[in-house]
Amino acid sequence: MIKRPRRLRKTDAIRKFVRETHFSKKSLILPFFIVEGNGVKSEISTLDGHFHYSPDRICEGIGEALECGINSFLLFGIPNEKDEIGSSAWNSNGALQNAVRTIKSTFPDVVVITDVCMCEYTSHGHCGAISDGYVDNDKSIELLCKTALSHAVAGADIVAPSDMMDGRVAAIRNALDREGYIDIPIMSYSAKYSSAFYGPFREAAGSAPSFGDRKSYQMDYHNINEAIYESSLDIEEGADMIMVKPALSYLDVIRETKNNFGLPLAAYSVSGEYAMIKAAAKAGLVDEYSIMCETTTSIFRAGADILITYYAKEIAKALDRGDIG
Ligand code: PBG
Repeated sequence: MIKRPRRLRKTDAIRKFVRETHFSKKSLILPFFIVEGNGVKSEISTLDGHFHYSPDRICEGIGEALECGINSFLLFGIPNEKDEIGSSAWNSNGALQNAVRTIKSTFPDVVVITDVCMCEYTSHGHCGAISDGYVDNDKSIELLCKTALSHAVAGADIVAPSDMMDGRVAAIRNALDREGYIDIPIMSYSAKYSSAFYGPFREAAGSAPSFGDRKSYQMDYHNINEAIYESSLDIEEGADMIMVKPALSYLDVIRETKNNFGLPLAAYSVSGEYAMIKAAAKAGLVDEYSIMCETTTSIFRAGADILITYYAKEIAKALDRGDIG
Protein backbone atom coordinates (compact mmCIF):
# COMPACT_ATOMS: atom_id res chain seq x y z
CA MET A 1 0.00 0.00 0.00
CA ILE A 2 1.19 3.50 -0.80
CA LYS A 3 2.57 5.43 2.18
CA ARG A 4 1.18 8.96 2.32
CA PRO A 5 3.40 11.39 4.26
CA ARG A 6 1.53 14.18 2.49
CA ARG A 7 -1.42 13.65 4.88
CA LEU A 8 0.50 15.57 7.52
CA ARG A 9 1.25 18.43 5.13
CA LYS A 10 -2.27 19.08 3.96
CA THR A 11 -3.18 22.18 5.93
CA ASP A 12 -1.22 24.92 7.61
CA ALA A 13 -2.68 23.91 10.96
CA ILE A 14 -1.60 20.29 10.59
CA ARG A 15 1.84 21.30 9.37
CA LYS A 16 2.32 23.49 12.42
CA PHE A 17 0.98 20.72 14.65
CA VAL A 18 3.65 18.26 13.52
CA ARG A 19 6.60 20.63 13.44
CA GLU A 20 9.71 19.03 14.85
CA THR A 21 11.74 22.13 15.60
CA HIS A 22 10.65 24.62 18.22
CA PHE A 23 12.39 27.73 19.43
CA SER A 24 11.46 31.02 20.99
CA LYS A 25 12.53 34.61 21.42
CA LYS A 26 14.10 33.69 24.72
CA SER A 27 16.78 31.81 22.78
CA LEU A 28 17.85 34.77 20.64
CA ILE A 29 20.79 37.09 21.30
CA LEU A 30 21.19 40.43 19.51
CA PRO A 31 24.70 41.89 19.09
CA PHE A 32 25.51 45.57 19.66
CA PHE A 33 28.62 47.63 18.86
CA ILE A 34 29.61 50.25 21.42
CA VAL A 35 31.88 53.18 20.61
CA GLU A 36 33.35 55.82 22.90
CA GLY A 37 31.99 59.32 23.18
CA ASN A 38 28.55 60.85 23.59
CA GLY A 39 25.43 61.15 21.52
CA VAL A 40 26.50 58.62 18.89
CA LYS A 41 24.05 56.52 16.92
CA SER A 42 25.44 55.98 13.44
CA GLU A 43 24.54 53.27 10.97
CA ILE A 44 27.14 50.61 10.24
CA SER A 45 27.70 50.56 6.48
CA THR A 46 28.35 46.81 6.28
CA LEU A 47 25.47 45.78 8.56
CA ASP A 48 22.18 47.22 7.35
CA GLY A 49 19.93 48.28 10.20
CA HIS A 50 22.69 48.11 12.84
CA PHE A 51 24.35 51.04 14.56
CA HIS A 52 27.39 52.13 16.48
CA TYR A 53 26.06 53.43 19.81
CA SER A 54 27.89 55.41 22.45
CA PRO A 55 27.13 54.25 26.01
CA ASP A 56 24.70 57.13 26.66
CA ARG A 57 22.51 56.06 23.71
CA ILE A 58 22.73 52.27 23.85
CA CYS A 59 19.51 52.03 25.86
CA GLU A 60 17.59 53.28 22.81
CA GLY A 61 18.69 50.18 20.92
CA ILE A 62 18.10 47.89 23.87
CA GLY A 63 14.63 49.40 24.42
CA GLU A 64 13.61 48.73 20.80
CA ALA A 65 14.78 45.13 21.08
CA LEU A 66 12.92 44.65 24.35
CA GLU A 67 9.75 45.82 22.65
CA CYS A 68 10.16 42.95 20.19
CA GLY A 69 10.70 40.53 23.06
CA ILE A 70 14.48 40.17 22.75
CA ASN A 71 16.05 40.12 26.19
CA SER A 72 19.65 38.98 25.67
CA PHE A 73 22.46 41.02 24.16
CA LEU A 74 26.06 40.51 23.12
CA LEU A 75 28.21 43.63 23.37
CA PHE A 76 31.35 44.48 21.44
CA GLY A 77 33.49 47.44 22.45
CA ILE A 78 35.33 49.67 19.99
CA PRO A 79 37.97 51.92 21.58
CA ASN A 80 39.42 55.22 20.39
CA GLU A 81 42.93 54.24 21.40
CA LYS A 82 44.64 51.08 20.23
CA ASP A 83 48.08 49.82 21.22
CA GLU A 84 50.29 46.72 20.90
CA ILE A 85 48.65 44.89 23.80
CA GLY A 86 45.15 46.38 23.56
CA SER A 87 45.33 47.96 26.98
CA SER A 88 42.07 49.88 26.67
CA ALA A 89 40.24 46.52 26.66
CA TRP A 90 40.26 46.43 30.46
CA ASN A 91 39.74 50.14 31.04
CA SER A 92 37.04 50.38 33.70
CA ASN A 93 35.83 53.50 31.92
CA GLY A 94 35.90 52.01 28.42
CA ALA A 95 32.96 52.16 26.01
CA LEU A 96 31.90 48.58 26.69
CA GLN A 97 32.23 48.81 30.48
CA ASN A 98 30.23 52.04 30.53
CA ALA A 99 27.55 50.55 28.30
CA VAL A 100 27.21 47.52 30.58
CA ARG A 101 26.71 49.78 33.59
CA THR A 102 24.13 51.92 31.81
CA ILE A 103 22.17 48.96 30.47
CA LYS A 104 22.09 47.11 33.78
CA SER A 105 21.02 50.17 35.72
CA THR A 106 18.25 50.99 33.22
CA PHE A 107 17.10 47.43 32.48
CA PRO A 108 18.24 45.23 35.38
CA ASP A 109 16.49 42.13 34.02
CA VAL A 110 18.17 41.87 30.62
CA VAL A 111 21.01 39.42 30.00
CA VAL A 112 24.19 41.29 29.10
CA ILE A 113 26.90 39.15 27.55
CA THR A 114 30.25 40.72 26.74
CA ASP A 115 32.61 39.60 24.00
CA VAL A 116 36.07 39.15 25.47
CA CYS A 117 38.75 39.58 22.82
CA MET A 118 41.72 41.79 22.04
CA CYS A 119 41.32 42.29 18.28
CA GLU A 120 39.28 45.49 18.50
CA TYR A 121 41.86 46.95 20.91
CA THR A 122 45.23 46.00 19.42
CA SER A 123 46.98 48.21 16.88
CA HIS A 124 47.77 45.11 14.78
CA GLY A 125 44.22 43.73 14.97
CA HIS A 126 45.15 40.28 16.26
CA CYS A 127 43.24 38.64 19.10
CA GLY A 128 46.19 38.71 21.51
CA ALA A 129 49.68 40.02 22.14
CA ILE A 130 52.40 39.50 19.53
CA SER A 131 55.86 38.11 20.29
CA ASP A 132 58.23 37.72 17.32
CA GLY A 133 55.43 38.10 14.80
CA TYR A 134 53.36 35.31 16.37
CA VAL A 135 50.30 35.61 18.63
CA ASP A 136 51.70 34.72 22.06
CA ASN A 137 49.17 32.40 23.71
CA ASP A 138 50.10 32.68 27.38
CA LYS A 139 50.78 36.38 27.34
CA SER A 140 47.42 36.94 25.61
CA ILE A 141 45.62 34.98 28.31
CA GLU A 142 46.77 37.43 30.96
CA LEU A 143 45.27 40.30 28.96
CA LEU A 144 42.03 38.40 28.40
CA CYS A 145 41.70 37.71 32.14
CA LYS A 146 42.04 41.39 32.99
CA THR A 147 39.48 42.21 30.30
CA ALA A 148 36.94 39.61 31.42
CA LEU A 149 37.32 40.77 35.01
CA SER A 150 36.69 44.39 34.04
CA HIS A 151 33.46 43.28 32.34
CA ALA A 152 32.33 41.41 35.44
CA VAL A 153 33.14 44.39 37.64
CA ALA A 154 31.04 46.60 35.32
CA GLY A 155 28.11 44.22 35.81
CA ALA A 156 28.14 41.83 32.85
CA ASP A 157 25.92 38.79 33.38
CA ILE A 158 28.01 36.46 31.19
CA VAL A 159 31.47 36.80 29.65
CA ALA A 160 32.18 35.32 26.23
CA PRO A 161 35.83 34.81 25.23
CA SER A 162 36.13 34.72 21.43
CA ASP A 163 39.91 34.75 20.98
CA MET A 164 40.61 30.99 20.61
CA MET A 165 43.75 31.00 22.77
CA ASP A 166 44.48 27.68 24.51
CA GLY A 167 43.70 27.52 28.20
CA ARG A 168 41.88 30.84 28.37
CA VAL A 169 38.65 29.46 29.81
CA ALA A 170 40.41 28.01 32.86
CA ALA A 171 42.43 31.18 33.32
CA ILE A 172 39.37 33.42 33.09
CA ARG A 173 37.43 31.15 35.46
CA ASN A 174 40.27 31.43 38.01
CA ALA A 175 40.53 35.18 37.60
CA LEU A 176 36.79 35.63 38.13
CA ASP A 177 36.63 33.24 41.08
CA ARG A 178 39.61 34.86 42.79
CA GLU A 179 37.76 38.17 42.79
CA GLY A 180 34.51 36.65 44.00
CA TYR A 181 32.69 36.44 40.66
CA ILE A 182 31.99 32.77 41.10
CA ASP A 183 28.49 33.04 39.63
CA ILE A 184 29.37 34.76 36.37
CA PRO A 185 29.05 32.12 33.64
CA ILE A 186 31.49 31.76 30.75
CA MET A 187 29.98 31.35 27.30
CA SER A 188 32.97 30.08 25.38
CA TYR A 189 33.36 30.55 21.66
CA SER A 190 34.66 26.99 21.82
CA ALA A 191 34.60 26.04 18.13
CA LYS A 192 35.35 29.19 16.21
CA TYR A 193 36.54 28.80 12.65
CA SER A 194 38.86 31.02 10.69
CA SER A 195 36.22 32.33 8.33
CA ALA A 196 35.67 34.77 5.51
CA PHE A 197 32.15 35.24 6.89
CA TYR A 198 33.50 37.72 9.46
CA GLY A 199 34.26 40.37 6.83
CA PRO A 200 31.41 42.82 7.53
CA PHE A 201 32.03 42.57 11.29
CA ARG A 202 35.69 43.47 10.98
CA GLU A 203 34.69 46.57 9.08
CA ALA A 204 32.12 47.40 11.80
CA ALA A 205 34.55 46.75 14.66
CA GLY A 206 37.72 48.00 12.99
CA SER A 207 39.34 44.69 13.86
CA ALA A 208 40.83 43.33 10.63
CA PRO A 209 44.39 42.05 11.23
CA SER A 210 46.98 44.42 9.77
CA PHE A 211 49.24 41.50 8.82
CA GLY A 212 48.67 37.80 8.26
CA ASP A 213 45.43 36.10 9.20
CA ARG A 214 43.88 34.32 12.17
CA LYS A 215 44.63 30.78 11.02
CA SER A 216 47.17 30.10 13.77
CA TYR A 217 44.46 30.40 16.41
CA GLN A 218 41.02 30.07 14.79
CA MET A 219 40.10 26.66 13.39
CA ASP A 220 40.55 25.22 9.91
CA TYR A 221 37.17 24.73 8.22
CA HIS A 222 38.15 21.27 7.01
CA ASN A 223 37.87 19.94 10.56
CA ILE A 224 35.04 18.65 12.70
CA ASN A 225 36.77 16.26 15.13
CA GLU A 226 38.89 19.19 16.22
CA ALA A 227 35.72 21.15 17.01
CA ILE A 228 34.59 18.41 19.37
CA TYR A 229 38.04 18.34 20.96
CA GLU A 230 38.06 22.13 21.38
CA SER A 231 34.62 22.13 23.01
CA SER A 232 35.56 19.25 25.31
CA LEU A 233 38.66 21.14 26.48
CA ASP A 234 36.65 24.26 27.19
CA ILE A 235 34.08 22.24 29.15
CA GLU A 236 36.87 20.65 31.21
CA GLU A 237 38.25 24.11 31.85
CA GLY A 238 34.93 25.29 33.20
CA ALA A 239 32.89 26.68 30.30
CA ASP A 240 29.19 26.93 31.19
CA MET A 241 28.05 27.26 27.59
CA ILE A 242 29.75 26.40 24.31
CA MET A 243 29.46 27.78 20.79
CA VAL A 244 29.86 26.98 17.14
CA LYS A 245 30.70 29.90 14.88
CA PRO A 246 29.85 30.67 12.09
CA ALA A 247 26.51 28.85 11.86
CA LEU A 248 25.25 28.30 8.33
CA SER A 249 28.27 26.59 6.82
CA TYR A 250 28.74 24.61 10.03
CA LEU A 251 25.39 22.92 10.63
CA ASP A 252 27.12 19.54 10.76
CA VAL A 253 29.41 20.84 13.50
CA ILE A 254 26.40 22.12 15.44
CA ARG A 255 24.69 18.73 15.23
CA GLU A 256 27.82 16.79 16.20
CA THR A 257 28.49 19.13 19.11
CA LYS A 258 24.89 18.82 20.31
CA ASN A 259 25.14 15.03 20.17
CA ASN A 260 28.32 15.05 22.23
CA PHE A 261 27.64 17.51 25.05
CA GLY A 262 24.77 18.39 27.33
CA LEU A 263 25.69 22.03 27.92
CA PRO A 264 23.70 24.84 26.35
CA LEU A 265 24.97 25.23 22.79
CA ALA A 266 24.99 28.60 21.09
CA ALA A 267 25.42 29.14 17.37
CA TYR A 268 26.56 32.48 16.00
CA SER A 269 25.07 33.42 12.66
CA VAL A 270 27.79 35.89 11.78
CA SER A 271 27.94 39.17 9.92
CA GLY A 272 28.67 37.65 6.50
CA GLU A 273 25.63 35.40 6.71
CA TYR A 274 23.43 38.41 7.44
CA ALA A 275 25.08 40.62 4.82
CA MET A 276 24.76 37.99 2.09
CA ILE A 277 21.03 37.65 2.64
CA LYS A 278 20.62 41.43 2.71
CA ALA A 279 22.61 41.86 -0.50
CA ALA A 280 20.86 39.05 -2.36
CA ALA A 281 17.48 40.41 -1.32
CA LYS A 282 18.43 43.93 -2.38
CA ALA A 283 19.43 42.58 -5.77
CA GLY A 284 15.97 41.04 -6.06
CA LEU A 285 17.34 37.50 -6.11
CA VAL A 286 15.70 36.09 -2.99
CA ASP A 287 12.94 36.99 -0.58
CA GLU A 288 14.64 38.24 2.58
CA TYR A 289 11.93 37.25 5.04
CA SER A 290 11.61 33.70 3.72
CA ILE A 291 15.35 33.16 3.63
CA MET A 292 15.68 34.51 7.17
CA CYS A 293 12.98 32.13 8.40
CA GLU A 294 14.47 29.13 6.62
CA THR A 295 18.09 29.69 7.62
CA THR A 296 17.21 30.47 11.23
CA THR A 297 15.12 27.35 11.58
CA SER A 298 17.88 25.25 10.03
CA ILE A 299 20.31 26.33 12.75
CA PHE A 300 17.90 25.29 15.51
CA ARG A 301 17.07 22.08 13.64
CA ALA A 302 20.79 21.30 13.55
CA GLY A 303 20.78 21.39 17.35
CA ALA A 304 21.52 24.92 18.53
CA ASP A 305 19.82 25.88 21.80
CA ILE A 306 20.63 29.56 21.44
CA LEU A 307 21.20 31.75 18.40
CA ILE A 308 23.23 34.93 18.17
CA THR A 309 21.88 36.79 15.16
CA TYR A 310 21.71 40.25 13.61
CA TYR A 311 18.14 39.34 12.62
CA ALA A 312 16.97 38.82 16.23
CA LYS A 313 14.25 41.51 16.13
CA GLU A 314 12.90 40.39 12.76
CA ILE A 315 12.93 36.74 13.85
CA ALA A 316 10.97 37.74 16.96
CA LYS A 317 8.27 39.17 14.69
CA ALA A 318 8.22 36.02 12.56
CA LEU A 319 7.79 33.99 15.76
CA ASP A 320 4.91 36.26 16.82
CA ARG A 321 3.20 35.57 13.51
CA GLY A 322 3.70 31.83 13.97
CA ASP A 323 5.55 31.57 10.66
CA ILE A 324 8.40 29.75 12.43
CA GLY A 325 9.22 28.28 15.83
C1 PBG B 1 36.31 38.86 17.84
C2 PBG B 1 35.08 38.46 17.12
C3 PBG B 1 34.83 38.37 15.75
C4 PBG B 1 33.48 38.06 15.62
C5 PBG B 1 32.96 37.93 16.88
N1 PBG B 1 33.97 38.15 17.81
C6 PBG B 1 35.70 38.64 14.59
C7 PBG B 1 36.86 37.80 14.27
O1 PBG B 1 37.16 36.79 14.90
O2 PBG B 1 37.56 38.22 13.35
C8 PBG B 1 32.75 37.92 14.31
C9 PBG B 1 31.29 38.14 14.39
C10 PBG B 1 30.63 38.38 13.09
O3 PBG B 1 31.20 38.27 12.00
O4 PBG B 1 29.43 38.68 13.14
N2 PBG B 1 37.38 37.99 17.76
